[in-house]
Amino acid sequence: MASRPPVADSDVADEAVRSTCDDASICKRFATSQGYWTDPYIQYFVRQMGERKAPEINRGYYARVQGMSHLLDAFLKRTQCDCQVVNLGAGLDTTFWRLKVCLNYKLIVVFLYHFCRTKPPLSKPLIETHSADSLLLDGHNLDSDRYCIIGADLRDISSLEEKLRKFQIITELPTLFLSECVLVYMTPEQSSRLVHWVANTFHTAMFINYEQVNMADRFGQVMIENLQSRQCNLAGVDVCQSLDSQERFLLTGWESVNALDMMAVYGLLPQEDISRIERLEFLDEKELLHQLLQHYSICWAVKDTLSLGISQIGFLP
Ligand SMILES: C[S@@+](CC[C@H](N)C(=O)[O-])C[C@H]1O[C@@H](n2cnc3c(N)ncnc32)[C@H](O)[C@@H]1O
Repeated sequence: MASRPPVADSDVADEAVRSTCDDASICKRFATSQGYWTDPYIQYFVRQMGERKAPEINRGYYARVQGMSHLLDAFLKRTQCDCQVVNLGAGLDTTFWRLKVCLNYKLIVVFLYHFCRTKPPLSKPLIETHSADSLLLDGHNLDSDRYCIIGADLRDISSLEEKLRKFQIITELPTLFLSECVLVYMTPEQSSRLVHWVANTFHTAMFINYEQVNMADRFGQVMIENLQSRQCNLAGVDVCQSLDSQERFLLTGWESVNALDMMAVYGLLPQEDISRIERLEFLDEKELLHQLLQHYSICWAVKDTLSLGISQIGFLP
């Protein structure tokens, strides 16, 4: 009997990184089940709810999802939905189904997977805009007029570019790139190459990056060790030392960049809704929430060749 080829260490490491999306999605599903925000589609992606999550985790995910959505919605408004959205390392992302009515062009997710055709609430918005036959599906990719899934390694830019072009990405169209806890799994050189390529290739673009920050202290160290114990290496942690590190976008072709830690974002989200979610669960240890929020950030970089005013996008005080 032929023996199976040995599994390379890099495959094990990649699988550990890939599996982090399950944790993120389970936490999101749990927070929605507690009423933090509404997402009728996440149940089709994440079956299990997992064990109960602590209130500070739920509030952290609330701030993450609302913060990203706030910037995404502002970009759609500025471009009047004449834009593309590319979610890099999307995991089990439901954004397309939230946006389905308003997007004029494609939403592309770089790596998700392929059961959406079989669940009517997910496949309906795809099929409404085209015949079911216009969906092209193989083991790793799905293409339709509005929604596209590409299996690709973000560390391999030439292959990523080839795949995006095959799926008819339009480099002249305003394009929003999202990365949520993704760049941190790539070395600083690999993520720099990626953000540089985006700035070089797309005429008018915005890049929203959510990831760890202030990682040099004890709390950061514990986060790194927790992930390492699951064979998950934060290869990009050196550029998560402070908000200033996000100036890396200015060195890679972007015109402007802003960054806030999630403690600041939490204070700038609509306070009426914050009061609502703070009534959902009693939080004993506020200090824990503050520490958590101080160790994540949102950064957004802009290149506005078409002068759409996207550099004015931000969180109003
Ligand atoms: C913590 S999960 C976040 C998933 C999703 N963005 C979210 O916030 O729910 C990290 C994701 O980054 C993806 N990722 C990390 N490195 C990648 C790479 N080199 N190419 C493609 N995806 C990558 C993993 O597959 C995983 O889905």
